[in-house]
Parts: sequence; structure tokens; C-alpha cells
Amino acid sequence: MTSQDIRKAYLQFFESKGHLIVPSAPIVLKDDPTLMFNNSGMAQFKEFFLGNGTPKSQRIADTQKCLRVSGKHNDLEDVGFDTYHHTMFEMLGNWSFGDYFKKEALAWAWEFLTEVLKLDKDRLYVSVFEGNPAENVPFDQEAFDIWKQYVSEDRIILGNKKDNFWEMGDQGPCGPCSEIHIDLRSDAERNEVSGRSLVNADHPQVVEIWNNVFMEFNRKADGSLEKLPAQHVDTGMGFERLCMAMQNVTSNYDTDVFTPLIAKVEEITGFKYTSNEVKNISEEQNKTNIAIRVIVDHVRAVAFAIADGQLPSNTGAGYVIRRILRRAIRYGFTFLGTNEPFINKLVEVLANQMGEFFPEIKSQQQLVTNVIRDEEASFLRTLEQGLQLLDKVVAETSGKEVSGEKVFELYDTFGFPKDLTALILKEKGYSFNETEFETELQKQKARSRAASEVITDDWIYLNQGNVDSSGSEQAKQTFVGYDQTESEVKITRIRKVDSKKDGILYQIVLDNTPFYPEGGGQVGDKGILISRKSKVESQKSDEESQEEIIEIIDTKKENNLIIHYSKYLPEDLNQTFIAKVNTDLRTSTSKNHSATHLMHLALRTILGTHVEQKGSLVNPNYLRFDFSHFSKVSDEELRQVEASVNAQIEAQLQLVEHRNIPIKEALDKGAMALFGEKYGDSVRMIEFGDSKELCGGIHVKNSADIWHFKIISEGAVAAGIRRIEAITGDAVKDFYKNQENTLSEIKEVLKNPQDVLKSVASLQDDNAKLKKQLEQLVKEKIEGLKNTLVAEFQEINGINFIAKQVDLSMAATKDLAQAIGTSKPNAFVVLASIEDNAPNIHCYIAKELVANKSLNAGTVIRELGKFIDGNGGGQPFFASGKGKNVNGIKEVLEKVVDYIK
Ligand code: ALA
Repeated sequence: MTSQDIRKAYLQFFESKGHLIVPSAPIVLKDDPTLMFNNSGMAQFKEFFLGNGTPKSQRIADTQKCLRVSGKHNDLEDVGFDTYHHTMFEMLGNWSFGDYFKKEALAWAWEFLTEVLKLDKDRLYVSVFEGNPAENVPFDQEAFDIWKQYVSEDRIILGNKKDNFWEMGDQGPCGPCSEIHIDLRSDAERNEVSGRSLVNADHPQVVEIWNNVFMEFNRKADGSLEKLPAQHVDTGMGFERLCMAMQNVTSNYDTDVFTPLIAKVEEITGFKYTSNEVKNISEEQNKTNIAIRVIVDHVRAVAFAIADGQLPSNTGAGYVIRRILRRAIRYGFTFLGTNEPFINKLVEVLANQMGEFFPEIKSQQQLVTNVIRDEEASFLRTLEQGLQLLDKVVAETSGKEVSGEKVFELYDTFGFPKDLTALILKEKGYSFNETEFETELQKQKARSRAASEVITDDWIYLNQGNVDSSGSEQAKQTFVGYDQTESEVKITRIRKVDSKKDGILYQIVLDNTPFYPEGGGQVGDKGILISRKSKVESQKSDEESQEEIIEIIDTKKENNLIIHYSKYLPEDLNQTFIAKVNTDLRTSTSKNHSATHLMHLALRTILGTHVEQKGSLVNPNYLRFDFSHFSKVSDEELRQVEASVNAQIEAQLQLVEHRNIPIKEALDKGAMALFGEKYGDSVRMIEFGDSKELCGGIHVKNSADIWHFKIISEGAVAAGIRRIEAITGDAVKDFYKNQENTLSEIKEVLKNPQDVLKSVASLQDDNAKLKKQLEQLVKEKIEGLKNTLVAEFQEINGINFIAKQVDLSMAATKDLAQAIGTSKPNAFVVLASIEDNAPNIHCYIAKELVANKSLNAGTVIRELGKFIDGNGGGQPFFASGKGKNVNGIKEVLEKVVDYIK
């Protein structure tokens, strides 16, 4: 079976068992602060386990793009060295949300593997949780008894907490699990050593393929377990490993998931990969194989992350992606001799191979290719620079051991990998101090840990009357913010979060809320909670001070739960409050959001339909919009975009909001959906005239409310991605007011001329004329000085020598030094001057002196530079330098006389 067939067979099987098949969620997570990337199939369903939402079916199956490169599950450093770990992999999964449990899950897993795929039962082992008294979780007798129906007892292995208790992160849903392992060794090997002893022993051919987790617990902040309101099943099967088992090979990289990519690397680099069946390979070949595995693995992770909207960058998830790509570039550079971008060329292969099932990679092939190519080119330049720096470090090292601090500096500031440095140093016969490097690394880690540490307490539940029978009050939490900006609310939970960045903040959850949580580029609402009781009382007693006001400084969404942030908690948490959104801020934000939609349409109309949104920020002050486009947007095009948006504003387009429309219907109507966004079956669609977008944000009622739209900047974000920033409403008024003020100030400076433009033009004219005159004067001055100085040459030891300070600009001093030097044979000239309070020095040495006396102007300048706290360099016959200490000039001139003598 091809990998495509295997994927289809899995999904068809679970469809036949009543599962709803859903698409993979984007690889990059948006509303979960505990996780950067989807690291397992269940991540997108976490909210259902926690009771924050209701799934559209109690049985769901899919294949999920996963990335295990940060946090609790991180395989990055293993990738390439073994044959079965990956950064990105597909996880086939089936879920029961409070529906079937262990019996069905294990029976179906067995049926699929042994009856549908017909894998050899004699190669399979299963494991169950042995129990953990300390956590009060017993041995999983039930799973054990179920397995006994399918396999002999000697194929059932009891596993500990590490292997058989699955947790997504430090906190969150978890439970005991039962794994299925496969032994892919030859019959002879299997006869010699039992597969049982190799389960969970890191044997490359005895690997876990399927994990069945029985989600029953929630891991709390204090480390304790609490029972979830219902029992769920979460399974995950490693797709690439399953392909390995089905395609009779012993390495994931020998399956058709990877072979086309490997073939392309071979074609580009000329290096050959050997399959895992070829034994006893040389050390060199092993290195080649590792490098190729790293590259074909990493390109998948990077390409899919970019297709899902995560560009490489210097922070957060973007930085992780950049580092993965750099790891691949560096392996190519060191082991395959590639010093030109080439990884981007693999994207085409990937798109052809996976584009049918994952259309995002096909439709964004060009963009992904461009971004990777640019990143490659820039990191290759960094590597070049790093090599030069390393040369310098080596030159400054006495002995054969380079300081670990220096190597760390290269790593930290230039991203120059430590092992690459070690390799290059080794070739030069040097090593570096590993202990010093480690110390620096640990110091830096401690610094960033301290800076990013967040202590999140457990939730404290309030007003439990609102909790429904499943234990979930949040299934009932309603967002009323599309219709109102004020609402009567009760607090249902609170939690304290302590971080270095923000200090202590309280997270408040309400039974209903008008506050919009950050999302879709739009910032979260700010506002206040007012205690209602005191307000009523204060009306009675006329004591305004009775009223308690709690400021909400931000609103965010976490696993489908709307969370309000505040620095304080109300005194009485159980009373009723009025939640009031700051409508000034919200109105400004909504103008920017609606203008973003109008601009998106304008860009697609004017530049073409290749324009797709790649990121956006909408806040009360301005809007920022990133989109795919291959070149700079010209001034004329920007003018057209502005005009088009303003025409749509003037057309007074009424907002048409479809709050709950089936996604298919919305797409049929022409609504724009974005890659990297997770949409439900029913969506919200926003229309202004021809602009139709799927969007959850807050908008103006009529485009005329935007008042006016003005672009303030256009620029590049990455290869093929442009950014426009623009303003609307009052910000445009302020913008023009500022322009007007500036103009008034200019007029005033110019003494209020009738025609400002004419006056500026004439100033420029005058300036040009004066410049010319000045140049002429300086020229004459240099000529005069030259004649004077030439007369002052002194002959010392057959050298015509002169050293002087002159009163000229640096450039003129340089010219003068050369002019004097060439006017006399065997000339040795040193001139110094001061420009912008900094000394500069220049040295001319006649070619015959350079040749006969081995003199070198570069060396002279470097030596003399010390006296002015500076440095410099150049050619043997001419060099210049700059410094900080003007008092050193005197010494420079004295020292050079000594030197000549
Ligand atoms: N969530 C489980 C895993 O990732 C199935 O192994």
C-alpha cells in the first residue's frame, strides 16, 4: 500500500465505525498559552476534554500534522540520528468524547491492524499501565483483560508512568494508556532475541506505533490529579511508522513518504543516500545519511508551518521554525557541501506528494518556496560571516584552545552552531573550552527562564449553581458582545497568574460577556466590571464611593474559554456585576477592522487574486495587514488602493452579518477563508458590498462610519510578503492635523513666504550653488597646503618623510596625503585631522618602499591607531584609520618619526 492508501484505509475504517472525519487542524496553535504547536492529535480537542465546549460528534477521527520541537514533547535533537523520530509527523487518531471506552478502542485498533492492514500478529506487542500508588491510579486491569482476548499474556507488557501514562503538557487532560508496538526485525533476529525484551528500549526496529489513551484525569497546577467529568478515548498512531511496517522496510525514511524528497536531495547535491537495508556503511556515508535525513525531515516541518501562517522570525514559534530550518541548512553546508540555497527546491516535491490531502501546501507552494529560499540565503551569509569571525578568534588565541565564551558569543549572536564551530576548529588543529561554553549557555537559559516563567494557579470555581450536570459551566458561557457592550454578569471562575513580564494578574471568567477576546488579529476588549449591588445602594444612599470598579485590562480566549484580565479582584466575588466594554476603544478598533476587510478586497482587485492575508493586527490606533505579493506595491498602486477603500466608505455599504451560516454556504457565496485558521461547521460571515470574509471580529454598522482611510506605510516582511499599515477615523484627522502643523512650522521657519514650495526650491538651489563654491575653495586650499607641505619633506635614511596635522575634513585629508605622496619618490606621508570631534589618520608609503623595505601602511595605521583609541586598515601603500581620542594625534606624529628613524 502507498502512504496515500494507508491514510485512506485508516479514515475509512473509523468512518465505518461511526466516526466523523475532520481535517487536520493547523500546525500552529493560536489560543493555548501552554503549547506553541500541535504536538498530538488531541490538542485541537483539548477544550472538549476540559468541558469548555461540545464536539460536533462524540466520535471523531483524522490525521493531524504534528510538530514535536518544543516543550514537553521535543524530539528535535534526535532527528536525523535515528530512523523513526521526526519534527513533523502525521498522527492518525480516533476519539471518543464521553462515548465508547477501552473495550471498543482496543478492539478496533486490533481489528484495523490485523484484519484490515493484515499486519502479522506475531510481530505485535501491547502494553498496559502498571499503576501508580503514589498518584492513586491503579493497575489497568480492564485493559489487561481486554488484551487477553486478542494476544497471549506474554505479549502484554506492564509499563510505568513514563511509558504508559500520557500527558500533553505539565497541566491538562491525561490518563493511563495502552500502546501497540511492532517488531520489524528479521525472523532470525526475532528467534534469537525476543521482541518483548526490546519494547520501549529504543530499538529502531521495535517501535511503538499506536497509543490508546484513556483520558480520565486533569493534571492540576499543584501536580495533583482530578477526575474529569467524563471518560474519553484519545488515540494516536504514527503514520510514517505505520507506513514503514506496511511497506516492508526498516526505516521511516525508506517509505514513500520520504523517498521522493531524498531523490531530489541526491539530484541536487550529487550525494547518495543508502537505505537502511545497506549495512556496514563507512563513517562518511553515515554522515551523509544523517544530513539527508535531517534535511528531508526538517523541510516538511518548515514548509507546513509556513503554509499554516507561521513565518520564520526572531521570537516565539517563528524562532523555533527558523532554528529548524537553520539546522537543515547547516547540515547541508557541512556535510553535503551546499553553499547555495537548495532546500526550497524540495517544496515542489512535497507539494506534489502531499498536496492532494493537504491542499494548503499546493496552493501556497510558491510563497513557501520563496520564504525558505530567502531564509537559506541569509543564513548562508551568516555562516560565511561566522567563518570570518572564527578566523579572527583563532588569530587572537594563544595556545590551541579557543575560549568557550567566544564560541558562545558566535552561537548566541550569529546563530553559529556549536558543533559546526568545533568541526571547523578541529580542522585548524584547535579545540574550545566546552565547560566555559556550557556555563554561558546555562546562564543564558536561566535568564530566559526567569524572564518567561509563568506560575498559573488552578481555577477556583464560584457560583457553582451555574455548573451543568457534566461539571461544565463553560458549555453555557455566552458571548453577547456582537449585540451589546454592557451586560449583567456573574463570575464563574478565577485564577491567579504570576509572571515576570506582567506581575500578578487575575483571570476572570464570566457566565456571559460582552468583551471581545483577542482573535483574528483584533485585540481584546478593555473595560470595567461594576458591582451592581453597590450601584443600586449608592443610588439609594447617594454614596457614589460605594461602587466598586474593577478594571479589565485585556480579554483573551484560551481553549475556547473567554478570559478577562485584571490586576485586582472584586471584594465580593459572588455578587452580580455590570460588565462594561470601553466603547471608545472598541469603536476605533471596529473601524480599523472593517477597513482591513475593504482593503483586502481592494488589494485583490488592484494587485490580483494571488493576494492572500498572511497576518493582521487591528487595534484602536491603526491596522496592520500582511499579505502575499511578489514585489513592492508602487506608490500609484497604493494610491489606487486608498482610493478604492475610500470609495467603498463613501458608498455607505451596510454591514451584512451572517452569524451562524454553514461553512459550505459561506464559501459558495464567495467568502474568503484563511489558511492556518480553524473553522467550525457553522461560521460567521461579514459582508460589506463585494467584500465577504469569514470573521469573528467586531465591525462598524456601515462603511461610512469608518470616515476615511489612509495608508501610512508599505514594506517587506519576508520574501513574497508585504505589509501595509493604515489608519482610519479620528487617527486620519490627527494625521492631517499633524501634517498641517508641520507645514505651518516650515512656513514660519521660512518667514512665511507666499509660496512655500517655491521658497524651498530656491533654498535648495542656493544650497547647491554654495556647495559648489565650497568645493572649489577647499580644492584651492588643498592645492596651497600641498605646495607648502611638499616643501617640508625631510629625508631620513633615504626616505622622504613628512608627518603633520592639517585642518581639513577626513576625505580631504585622505586626498591630500595621496597627492603629496605621489609628488615625491620614496615618500612616506602621515597626515592627521579632526572631523566631528574624532581624530583620523592616513598613511601613504611609496610603492618602491613597500617593495624594497617591506613597509606596510596597513600595519603602520594599526600601530598608530592605538594612540588615538582607534583602528583601521587598508592596502600596504595606503591605509586610513579613525579613533576617539584627539589628544593622541600628537603622540602619533612623534611615534612615526621614531619609527622612521
Ligand atoms: N495523545 C496520545 C499521543 O500523542 C495519543 O501519544
